[in-house]
Amino acid sequence: MNTKYYKIGSGDDAAAIAGAGELIRRGELVAFPTETVYGLGGNALSDESARKIYIAKGRPGDNPLIVHVARPGDAADFAEADGIYSRLAEAFMPGPLTVILPKKPNIPDSVTGGLSTVAIRCPSHPTARALIEAAGVPIAAPSANLSGRPSPTSAAHVAEDLDGRISMIIDGGDCEIGLESTVISVTAQGVTVLRPGAVTVEMLRSRGIAADVAQAVTDPSKAGDKPASPGMKYKHYAPRAPLTLVGGGAVRLLAVAREAQTSSPDARIAVMCRTGETGMFDGFTVLDTGESDAQYAKRLFALLRRADELGVSAIFAHLPEKDGLSLALYNRIIRSAGGNVIGADDALND
Ligand code: TXA
Ligand code: MG
Repeated sequence: MNTKYYKIGSGDDAAAIAGAGELIRRGELVAFPTETVYGLGGNALSDESARKIYIAKGRPGDNPLIVHVARPGDAADFAEADGIYSRLAEAFMPGPLTVILPKKPNIPDSVTGGLSTVAIRCPSHPTARALIEAAGVPIAAPSANLSGRPSPTSAAHVAEDLDGRISMIIDGGDCEIGLESTVISVTAQGVTVLRPGAVTVEMLRSRGIAADVAQAVTDPSKAGDKPASPGMKYKHYAPRAPLTLVGGGAVRLLAVAREAQTSSPDARIAVMCRTGETGMFDGFTVLDTGESDAQYAKRLFALLRRADELGVSAIFAHLPEKDGLSLALYNRIIRSAGGNVIGADDALND
């Protein structure tokens, strides 16, 4: 298949988005930018489109898709969106929040991986919203990567994984947030965070919403065989080289990386560290995570792809904190590392 490309701002955006909407309505797949990561979109009301998405990504059919709507209120057409949903929508939508709700019959079982619930998200990215409007149907969209690869935060990442497998890629530049949306389920008392993201637990609580965090968020081994969110049980974002997370600051990270280099003198060892620390890691392949966790979040997936391209033999990185946006970083990177952590509870600091 010949994949079409369109770059936002390079011509007639409205015409290109109208054409992309038409493709989706006809059952084709279009990758598009959102504020979190790029999505691989198909018609959420079509069983056949959902099947195409699973095939294009190489994704297991029991890992459900998020249904994207143009306006928060549109959720009611596809899900039982009463109770706490309207409070969540008012506070955080459009934006990087996905809410799991009981599904209505018009959403095919293939979209929800056979579950009786559906994940609803209203993205804030103007191109994403314009595309949903243009399609005239809700858009089912997982992240636009091959299953097991890091989520794409640029159109180039999408092309690496899906060129030739889908009808069109809309290039809207780099994604603002860089980590996927916060996924929550609704409980009798409030909500449970199944996947942390830029809508943080603290932000939910500050709006008076009782929020707890599923254990598997910080300890993937707790996901079990039938987790609340099927995505929890799949290994994600694993770079080819083994990734080790190191608690206790930059001096400790340097000591661990040096020890690895000493035991394998010919190995190309990569270190992920803050911009201000890069000077300490002379002789290593340095992957600069930026000055803040917000910058790190934006770069993480690109850095993991970069490590693969460079063919490094081992990667060492800081163990993130577990609060605010850092919890989302922690969740993604601990899964990339397959739980490989040194010195998590160590008081060593520098
Ligand atoms: O930011 C995002 O959410 C991006 C953009 C494209 O919107 N999408 C995304 O989709 O990350 P995906 O498919 O890569 O991740 C969806 C996650 C998976 O972990 C899946 O298991 C979970 O949401 N999920 C979807 N529907 C669910 C449901 N009904 N119950 C529980 N978990 C669900
Ligand atoms: Mg994904």
